[in-house]
Amino acid sequence: MNNNSQWIFIDDKGTFQLDSPELSSYLYFPLTNEAGMMSSITPTLNGDAKTGQNTFALLPVSGEDLHNSRMARNFWVYIEGKGAWSVAGLSAVQQAGLFNEDKEETKLTAGILWHKLERSSKNLGLKAEITSFVPAGPHQVELTKITITNMSGSIMRVTPTAAVPIYARSADNLRDHRHVTSLLHRIYTTRDGVVVKPTLTFDERGHKLNEMTYGVLGRDDEGNSPIAFFPILEEFIGQGGNLENPEAIIRNKPSITKEGECFEAYEAMGGLRFATEMISPGKSKTYVVAIGIDAKGAYFEDIASEYLSEKKFDKHFQETIKYWNQKLNLTFETGDRQLDGWMKWVSLEPILRRIYGCSFLPHHDYGRGGRGWRDLWQDCLALLIMEPQKVKDMLISNFGGVRFDGTNATIIGSGQGEFIADRNNITRVWMDHGAWPFLTTKLYIEQSGDVMFLLEKTSYFKDPQIARGQKKDSCWNSSYGRSQLDEKLSVYKGSILEHLLVQHLTAFYDVGQHNTMCLHGADWNDGLDMAVEQGESAAFTALYAYNLKEIARLIQILKEQKAQTTILLAKELTLLLVSCNYEDIEEKRKVLAAYLKTCEHNISGATAEIQSDALIENLEQKAAWLTNHLRKNEWIQSKEGYRWFNGYYDNKGQKVEGDHEKGIRMMLTSQVFTIMGGIAENDQVEEIIRSANHYLYDKKIGGYRLNTPFRELKTDMGRLFGFGYGHKENGAVFSHMAVMYANALYMRGYVRDGYKVLSTLYKHCSSFEKSRIYPGIPEYINEKGRGMYPYLTGAASWFILTALTEMFGIKGSLGDLKIEPKLLKMQFDKEGIITIRTVFANKGITIKYSNHKDLEYGEYVIKEIFINGNKCFNGGTEEAALISRQVISECNETEIEIRVNLDSRLAV
Ligand code: G1P
Repeated sequence: MNNNSQWIFIDDKGTFQLDSPELSSYLYFPLTNEAGMMSSITPTLNGDAKTGQNTFALLPVSGEDLHNSRMARNFWVYIEGKGAWSVAGLSAVQQAGLFNEDKEETKLTAGILWHKLERSSKNLGLKAEITSFVPAGPHQVELTKITITNMSGSIMRVTPTAAVPIYARSADNLRDHRHVTSLLHRIYTTRDGVVVKPTLTFDERGHKLNEMTYGVLGRDDEGNSPIAFFPILEEFIGQGGNLENPEAIIRNKPSITKEGECFEAYEAMGGLRFATEMISPGKSKTYVVAIGIDAKGAYFEDIASEYLSEKKFDKHFQETIKYWNQKLNLTFETGDRQLDGWMKWVSLEPILRRIYGCSFLPHHDYGRGGRGWRDLWQDCLALLIMEPQKVKDMLISNFGGVRFDGTNATIIGSGQGEFIADRNNITRVWMDHGAWPFLTTKLYIEQSGDVMFLLEKTSYFKDPQIARGQKKDSCWNSSYGRSQLDEKLSVYKGSILEHLLVQHLTAFYDVGQHNTMCLHGADWNDGLDMAVEQGESAAFTALYAYNLKEIARLIQILKEQKAQTTILLAKELTLLLVSCNYEDIEEKRKVLAAYLKTCEHNISGATAEIQSDALIENLEQKAAWLTNHLRKNEWIQSKEGYRWFNGYYDNKGQKVEGDHEKGIRMMLTSQVFTIMGGIAENDQVEEIIRSANHYLYDKKIGGYRLNTPFRELKTDMGRLFGFGYGHKENGAVFSHMAVMYANALYMRGYVRDGYKVLSTLYKHCSSFEKSRIYPGIPEYINEKGRGMYPYLTGAASWFILTALTEMFGIKGSLGDLKIEPKLLKMQFDKEGIITIRTVFANKGITIKYSNHKDLEYGEYVIKEIFINGNKCFNGGTEEAALISRQVISECNETEIEIRVNLDSRLAV
């Protein structure tokens, strides 16, 4: 039996339903809160729960464990005369019946961060409803409410037992002293449950006294605590038993363990035996179970009193729903309910990555928490739109991660401004890292108008890594601290603009033998990691070129609007502003080397005042040189007559893209940044689109692949060529780059082509039969069409950004609101209306476009705009209109309706 059903939305808040969800493998769902409880849950209640790498309450799971591990949450009922039944379907008997035509009926209903399963057994005449969520609030706790209903015609005598194996330690201990660490366990039975407090922790931090407690607690709907406990795993399952066939349940064994006992040195079990109940026909009985983690070693009495009753559960459940609904303040009303609901989930994803990082959902079984540098900056793009008030401080602290050599700390902790040094002491430089902060800064300035942000000051990061990963600072030790000092041993602080210049100017001179920027340890594509010596990334050279031009534009604005005719910079930076022959690679390298020498240990602390005009000219010249260089050297043509940009040189110094004896080689990334950065001229963009459609487009897996098949284990380029083709960074539809391709196309006015990228991707993801994922955008789509690594992907930020600022054309322009729709005729509903709600200038704004004449993009212009019914823009002949920030901030209302009437140019 296959699950060919489709999830459907049942309201406008993203709530969806799916029948028989357990008939699709690898499904998991996030349950979390901002206090850092991070759970995942599957349709059979598998998954895990933790607050960090070293604090897993439940056994850590990867994709395959979701269906193969038995260490799952469970709740059993033993029905007298009929035997044991698992509300999760996790009993040997129920598992055996999974593929029968008369399998148990199941249904999932899930909303923003809550998960409800219904399961019913016709044979037993029993139904269960299991609702799980993590309450918004200060506690690291996951709650589940289980309601059992007697659907039969006679009274049922049932004995319920909650059964949650408690792992209570670091993920590292999975195969590093798994048994020995169980000897550390001290397992206590309390009034409401089982609490584990290991004596010590054994992990990468050494042997330490442990403070953490982990607990499983429960009560019934009348406030009754369990009557007894099964606190030890091996006793619960019995000799020869297992968690799907546990002796304690199957034989309905009574437990003799009561409240107030302590056990040492075994794997722990949150086994909570509740009193036997007589349930009349049609009647129900409800239980609330909590899984908690406490860093202060508490025994969860507060959790019990705060959450363990049906009433309290329901109250927190409603509050949590409200909390997330308010957070997701971006709403699309397109007339396509499926799309609108799907966008809700996409807009949740950047928040999820802020909480989970890239490490704590089952597919993300790598890393140890924290967030990668580029991910952090890109997630901020969406957060800037959804949580703008928080972002400014966050940006400033993040800039504190830049080193004075233009590289940066790579892992960012959960605390603001907390940079985690590379644990493995790997010296690795990702050459793209320097380019992302500017894109985020630019969006911030455009949305807010706060151009003076560029002059805010912050420190630089310092560790032993110097000279762009080429050397170590032997004078540095941990007593130096993590901030760059000057000669007076004070922490040096420079402006945000200076940080951006450090990043871009060092990159400009850091070139390989083809005079494009060195690839170093990799660029955006983490898998291009084996061309450290001779690899070059023309793809990201294009992005740096674009940024240099845009930085110059912002300095111009500082000069014109804020009378900043000079800019104060660290004196060392003037070395990177000297005139030099950019064609001469050796000369460039010398300039860089001279600069890097000045910041090996302390920097001088001296500053220089540079004329803004001179700085602008210098940056523009550099941008123009790069642009011409790429146009001249990287534009390639295949024998079949297709043309596009080469983006890479391998470790032998050879061009990567173009004709090859093993087949054509084309990469999407190279096209994205040359289009976005204006390197590609319009006719070139058109040629690229033609080539990408020919070589990279594959509708059956959701659109544009990251590359063509190389048919070679290209060890002079990167590990990705070791992956099978069509998987992850080797030729999958990698959502992040596909969406950035769409963004670039929209930016350049290729609206139909941009739309094609987004809509193919959306259609694939939202077709459950093909993608097998819940609503949202996954990191990539594999060769079978399955969505992989859902929820934690940079693609989500870019999708939202592209839909809002490009497709709907709602964007800040130095603080004013620019309205420039790039909507196709088919995107409007039957009445010619399409609506979006977002936040701008601290107001909720709803923009309603009317296209009554059913005009196509390109045919319409903005005829008039009404704000809360008052006309504020009249009879333009342009596709775009600007509303001043003042007009919006002076509105008394907190919610503003902006109506934009479109009409044909001729009519206007
Ligand atoms: C992931 C990483 C990202 C990296 C990309 C390609 O993408 O998080 O840093 O650039 O793989 O290697 P994401 O899941 O964010 O789309």
